[in-house]
Amino acid sequence: MSFNLRILNNSDSAALRALRLQALADSPANFGADFGRESLQAASYFADKINHPDNIGIFGAFDGTQLIAMMGLQRDSGLKRRHCAKLWGVFTSPAYRGQGISASLLQMLIRIARQQPGLLHIRLSVNARNTDAQHLYLRAGWTAYGREPDALSVDGEMQEEILMTLKLVEDLSL
Ligand SMILES: CC(C)(COP(=O)(O)OP(=O)(O)OC[C@H]1O[C@@H](n2cnc3c(N)ncnc32)[C@H](O)[C@@H]1OP(=O)(O)O)[C@@H](O)C(=O)NCCC(=O)NCCS
Repeated sequence: MSFNLRILNNSDSAALRALRLQALADSPANFGADFGRESLQAASYFADKINHPDNIGIFGAFDGTQLIAMMGLQRDSGLKRRHCAKLWGVFTSPAYRGQGISASLLQMLIRIARQQPGLLHIRLSVNARNTDAQHLYLRAGWTAYGREPDALSVDGEMQEEILMTLKLVEDLSL
């Protein structure tokens, strides 16, 4: 099956809301945000995510017109942090998993990240128990550089996260 991959635009805010809320409900231990709070947000909150000034893009996969997978790339703000960006909100709707959709979206995201002047690293954090996602990131070139114990408290249970980075430029002295 082939899917259409593209960066979300203003017309996608309702689809982003639906998939994002599905993600937070499906996988609470894998996201810092929580469903209860985000589900109360106005439509403009999701439009603002698409239009955030530090956004490099929210990348989506579509089955026809339905958004079925997503991931966001946001550049850090501030002069001393502009060389880093954060990967966030990685999610594939359960019925579409294991078909290479996230791997393809990551390839597109990395290609566009490499076009951003001065961008050197893409950082992410992933639940230490989430071996599927770790496998996905390792295959795409990320390496682990640390761990954050008790990073999230989910329903009273502490969750450890692994911190990973993808170096976009091999020789940073160039
Ligand atoms: C992790 C997740 C995003 C992967 O999305 P996906 O579209 O199914 O991933 P892909 O099909 O591109 O798989 C990429 C790799 O991960 C592996 N993988 C993905 N899901 C897997 C699963 N359930 N079991 C085993 N391996 C899996 C694939 O085998 C593939 O490995 P390969 O390249 O060696 O073949 C998806 O499972 C998901 O949404 N999980 C819940 C939310 C989440 O954990 N987000 C990450 C937060 S950091």
